[in-house]
Amino acid sequence: MPISVLGFYGAVVLWAVLIARGAFKPKQWPLIAGFGLVLLLFLNVRYLIEGAPAGIAFFISLYDFFDNVGLSAGEVPSAMGTCQQNACSLWGTTYELHQTWGVAFYDRFVDAPSLRTNALYVHLSCNSIVFILMHAQLLWAGKPGIASAHASLGRATLFFLTLGTAAALYLASEHDTVQSYGGSLAEWGFYSMSLCVYGAALMGWRMARRGDWAMHRVWMIRFVGAMYGAFWLFRVLLMVTGPLFREWETVSLLISIWASAPLGVLMADGLRRSWDARSPRSGEPSVRAG
Ligand code: HEM
Repeated sequence: MPISVLGFYGAVVLWAVLIARGAFKPKQWPLIAGFGLVLLLFLNVRYLIEGAPAGIAFFISLYDFFDNVGLSAGEVPSAMGTCQQNACSLWGTTYELHQTWGVAFYDRFVDAPSLRTNALYVHLSCNSIVFILMHAQLLWAGKPGIASAHASLGRATLFFLTLGTAAALYLASEHDTVQSYGGSLAEWGFYSMSLCVYGAALMGWRMARRGDWAMHRVWMIRFVGAMYGAFWLFRVLLMVTGPLFREWETVSLLISIWASAPLGVLMADGLRRSWDARSPRSGEPSVRAG
């Protein structure tokens, strides 16, 4: 039994409880966001410490339990397969079947060209930094006297987002040959995801340049939603759709690739509208940065 995987499940359940109890209490939001950030860093920093294959094996192990639920002995669904010596999972002999996208993901980074591995490191490091910076922005937005710090942090966020997205585009450009991801459908899905995340950030930046602070706030909330979608919704969706679609290879991964970021934008926009409806003044500009 991989203790680290079980520990992570426990931490996610605790996070869900915090969200359920504090979602409507703004004072609890820094705790909820901080807890989520620690979980994200726990998942991502391990790639830099243990290397890509070990980080990916941990990632696949998170899904193995759900994907194997209810399978009878000897049953092999179309969307599941094995990897050499079961090295792509931490579950040992408990689970030897994994989603084929997971096996392909592992195989892509074992003995991978250094450009590919480094692109993955740049992608996840820069996007993790963006996650930290955007939370700092949210925490301090509206506080008096921080306008120039807000502008500098905003520029830094855009810088790291550009690097992280460029690395993702490079990785995605290789996916036309990865049939277990969905080939070109995966490639173009990741391009659309990049457009959704980066486009929202660019719109927010454009509104700030124009001095339209109300729309700056609207687009930056959408951007935060896209980031949460691209990371958390993507992964949570896989947990649900993986077991549901295990007879249809690539379907669960493609749903996450195409739907996670736009869903994140829609949810963030819906939340913002409901806050603004409850307190109309919150829609007014709070930070004036140049
Ligand atoms: C702009 C939207 C995003 C796109 C297009 C994107 C794309 C990708 C691609 C193409 C891969 C590698 C798959 C492969 O080449 O085999 C990947 C993996 C990964 N991405 Fe992203 N990504 C996005 C957003 C994010 C965000 C916001 C984070 C948060 C830090 C993130 C963190 C990761 C991590 C950690 C992995 C490795 C798999 C895992 O352990 O979760 N990505 N992403």
